[in-house]
Amino acid sequence: MLPALAGIGAIVLAAAGAFAWTAGWIGSGLTAQRMTDAIEATGAPHPGFRRAHAKGVCVYGTFRSSGAAAALSTARVFVQAQTPVVGRLSIAGGDPLGADAKARVRSMALLLRTDDGQEWRTAMNSFPFFPVATPAAFHAQTLAARPDPSTGKADPAKLAAFAEKYPEVKKFQAWAASAPWSDSWGNTEYNGVNAFRFTAADGSVRHVRWSLRPQLPFAALDPQQRDQADGDFLASDLAARLAQSPLRWDMRLTIAAPDDPVNDASRAWPDEREQVLAGTLELVRAEPQATGACRDINFDPLILPAGIAASDDPLLAARSAVYAHSFNRREREIAHGKAAQATGEGAVR
Ligand code: HEM
Repeated sequence: MLPALAGIGAIVLAAAGAFAWTAGWIGSGLTAQRMTDAIEATGAPHPGFRRAHAKGVCVYGTFRSSGAAAALSTARVFVQAQTPVVGRLSIAGGDPLGADAKARVRSMALLLRTDDGQEWRTAMNSFPFFPVATPAAFHAQTLAARPDPSTGKADPAKLAAFAEKYPEVKKFQAWAASAPWSDSWGNTEYNGVNAFRFTAADGSVRHVRWSLRPQLPFAALDPQQRDQADGDFLASDLAARLAQSPLRWDMRLTIAAPDDPVNDASRAWPDEREQVLAGTLELVRAEPQATGACRDINFDPLILPAGIAASDDPLLAARSAVYAHSFNRREREIAHGKAAQATGEGAVR
């Protein structure tokens, strides 16, 4: 009797698990839908656009493997000499026409497809670590940042209460207050921040974070110039640079030491950790997202090739679920003709 009941219990639990998965449950009572709703509510609606990082351009190029990362992972991308890349450079925020000079965070998303049909998708940011450790904390931050209808700005009391509850954010606030803003997508470093599990041919597993480090030297945007800067200076700068020559970034893999946090993207690893230069990304062409291949791509961080797998970082599953939700909403809006960018009107330059 008892084994039979246990069996039925297991089936019920499995069914509940499957339901939770399709419903997009993230944990702590959160769903992808609620998280997406909260992100949407931080600004005016922009049908057809990404709910975050709405402003961006598509980019195209090649990843050239150095061969060195093949010792860490069996992923084909580290063996194959060259892999074509479709990517997207963007700024954070939900406004597809937002002023570049008002956005301190710059971003790079990449889709690498190897000759065996496997894909590696990644979305990285210019900050060195994430503000918070968990989806619940990110959701709380999104709610705290929601503009108060009477002032049009976030309520300082709500922001203070959020920082009190999630003190890890203070480290990020200190970084944001002091680190200079780059003046180009081309001279910015992009960091994956989440750890991933790399499995080598001998079965050994290591936790790794990746970064794309520009070969151009960093140049800061003069804070005095921010108000005068053209609202779309990042796209025009990119076009001017690509007209001269390709832009390149080195992909550096940083390997965790045994006690490093591998499930918490808000905690950076010490600078002296072992690094491997996996190869070089070369971008040769940019195109407006309204007409480019990146518009209809979901840069889901859990689309990974064999040899790279998710870590226990809870942000990863939440990101995957929320990106899918955002993707489905914007694609539905485009299909129903509600989107300005479907007609080219208001297309991001
Ligand atoms: C729980 C945490 C996070 C949530 C809820 C979230 C939410 C979102 C959403 C809704 C989108 C738009 C997706 C689409 O419509 O295609 C997005 C895009 C993006 N996110 Fe996140 N995000 C999170 C964490 C992160 C982290 C840790 C990074 C990287 C360090 C990151 C980098 C990006 C980038 C670069 C894009 C733009 C990708 C593209 O060009 O399509 N996000 N995020």
